[in-house]
Amino acid sequence: MSEEVKIDRPGLFGKNSLCLAPLAGYSDAPFRLLCFEFGADFAVTEMVSSEGLIRAGDKTRKILRRMEGEGPVGCQLFGARPESMARAAELAAGTGPAFIDLNFGCPVKKVVKKNGGSALMRDLPLMEKIIHAVKSRVTLPVTAKIRSGWSAAEENYLEAGEILEGAGVSAITLHPRYRTQGFGGSAHWDHIARLKERVSIPVIASGDVKSVADYLKIVDTTACDVVMIGRGAFGRPWIFREIKDRLSGRDTDPVEGVERINILERQVRMEVEWKGEKRGVMELRKIYRWYLKGLPGMKDFRTRLSRSGTLREVLEILEDLREEIRKQWKETA
Ligand SMILES: Cc1cc2nc3c(=O)[nH]c(=O)nc-3n(C[C@H](O)[C@H](O)[C@H](O)COP(=O)(O)O)c2cc1C
Repeated sequence: MSEEVKIDRPGLFGKNSLCLAPLAGYSDAPFRLLCFEFGADFAVTEMVSSEGLIRAGDKTRKILRRMEGEGPVGCQLFGARPESMARAAELAAGTGPAFIDLNFGCPVKKVVKKNGGSALMRDLPLMEKIIHAVKSRVTLPVTAKIRSGWSAAEENYLEAGEILEGAGVSAITLHPRYRTQGFGGSAHWDHIARLKERVSIPVIASGDVKSVADYLKIVDTTACDVVMIGRGAFGRPWIFREIKDRLSGRDTDPVEGVERINILERQVRMEVEWKGEKRGVMELRKIYRWYLKGLPGMKDFRTRLSRSGTLREVLEILEDLREEIRKQWKETA
């Protein structure tokens, strides 16, 4: 039995709570901190392999570390062996997260081939065993993230929801796509509404919330408890503030061009501090386009940023970018 003290967080999965989704390659500590600063109530780590965690690779362990200033974070684990998931949950619990989240939705071949992620949607008895094994070893809340089923023909999220509730999970996140859909097509929000009617534990809605309007619509049409935001926060961590402002009736401060670059710079500096210059700069390459989306004339800057190899170079390009944006403003003023 792990020795961590149960953290009482009333309201963690309560109404109006907003959460940053688990996003492999993206929901690392610097990005989570940025989202917390903009109003996310909690966040979930990138998924971590239970077997990898037990073998204790440094990279795997590092994914579970948090930065000072972060709010409540759930550690997400994937795997298919109840004993490994339970042992990994114990190890993860030792790092002090707010809860343990179990991944039953990942569609990636490498994961599914070993019966992990969404493959568990095809083996609900094994899913149940995993929950029991994990719950017998940690005192933290345990949550589960599922899809609508393997395919439309094998839709079983309601059955899975009942099993998960019966096994004692504290909340269920539903990303209402089939495994066969990957991340394409649209999320079936009506599945969230149906799951909400079926279970009495909190339901966290995940899928296609990219604006305040989407947020209002998903809450209205599904009655979900918590809304989870994934791709909608890429290059737009302020989406959490926009939603919070709307909920409290405040005017939201629009984030204009130069401000966007300042926020990007903050993420750049934090990533480099967290991962070291070489790895930080390399991994940042995938995020620039999100921050520059919608700004005119950015092609050359995107190319330069994606080729940059040092923090100094990146900061110089960001300075040039600010200049360019100011110039464009003057021209249109
Ligand atoms: C790049 C990427 C990485 C993801 N990584 C994870 C993950 O590690 N664990 C998980 O449960 N879901 C993962 N997801 C799924 C998201 O958490 C979320 O359920 C899905 O993207 C739908 O929400 P969205 O439309 O708000 O992005 C990932 C999605 C994307 C696009």
